[in-house]
Amino acid sequence: MPALILHGGAGGIRQRTERDKIAASLQRIACSQWKQLESGMPAIDVAVETVRLLEADPLFNAGLGSKLQEDGGARLSAALMDGHRERFSGVVNVQGIMHPIQLCAHLLEDRDRVLCGEGALTRAQELGLKEGDVRTEASIERWKNAVDGSTGTVGAVVLDAQGRIAAATSTGGRGMERVGRVSDSCTVAGNYASTFAGVSCTGIGEDIVDGALATRVVHGVEHGLSVSEVCQNLQAKMMLSGWSAGLIALDKNGEWAAIKTTDIMYWHAIDKTGEHRFKDPDEACADS
Ligand code: GLY
Repeated sequence: MPALILHGGAGGIRQRTERDKIAASLQRIACSQWKQLESGMPAIDVAVETVRLLEADPLFNAGLGSKLQEDGGARLSAALMDGHRERFSGVVNVQGIMHPIQLCAHLLEDRDRVLCGEGALTRAQELGLKEGDVRTEASIERWKNAVDGSTGTVGAVVLDAQGRIAAATSTGGRGMERVGRVSDSCTVAGNYASTFAGVSCTGIGEDIVDGALATRVVHGVEHGLSVSEVCQNLQAKMMLSGWSAGLIALDKNGEWAAIKTTDIMYWHAIDKTGEHRFKDPDEACADS
């Protein structure tokens, strides 16, 4: 039974108009990709396309409109994991391409599957992937004011009709960070999947790496706990540890969870029971 869940980041609560735009974008993308899943598209392809669409929307901190680093540069990071093959690929701090997740999709079949900086750009150019500047007027304005902004990392976890799971995550980073800082999103702490479950994280990368959050959830499921049990326990641990993050998780039976320690996390899920979405602070009954 297919299922998919995607997120548009975790953090502080944004203006109502922005929240509505984010919710609409997540729903539109989720519905379009649900159709692809229903028509038999493999989980890995749906995960890549979901994140590519999120990267194209400047509402999010990935691809176009990404947060900028201390020097005003946009360096993008992303990861893709094919849970069925237990195979990971990643891109670390690449500049000059629009869709790092597409590069991850190609790297999944390469011998060298995690590339950084110039090497990643060179490989993208060899593949003819779309080049460009992801900086926008708004992101440059925020950088000029030394504000890291409140847009969020994006990610998706997908289960297809054949029971295969894939997880994909993409980010512009934490914002205003030192050049050379590495995000969690291109590591197995931020994005992980196996034949049992898949996870995509969002939030402060250092906290996500400290907690090895994505791998921790997947291994919990592999050891016999349900996604809900693992996530409930982990959320308590995250609160105690002061980790500022959120994650989405989905297992091979289509059970999913979305947890956070931040004020809000934007997510949307579709499964056999219908559509589910994050609880908006102004809509007490909107959550599933
Ligand atoms: N989670 C995105 C980052 O901290 O880089």
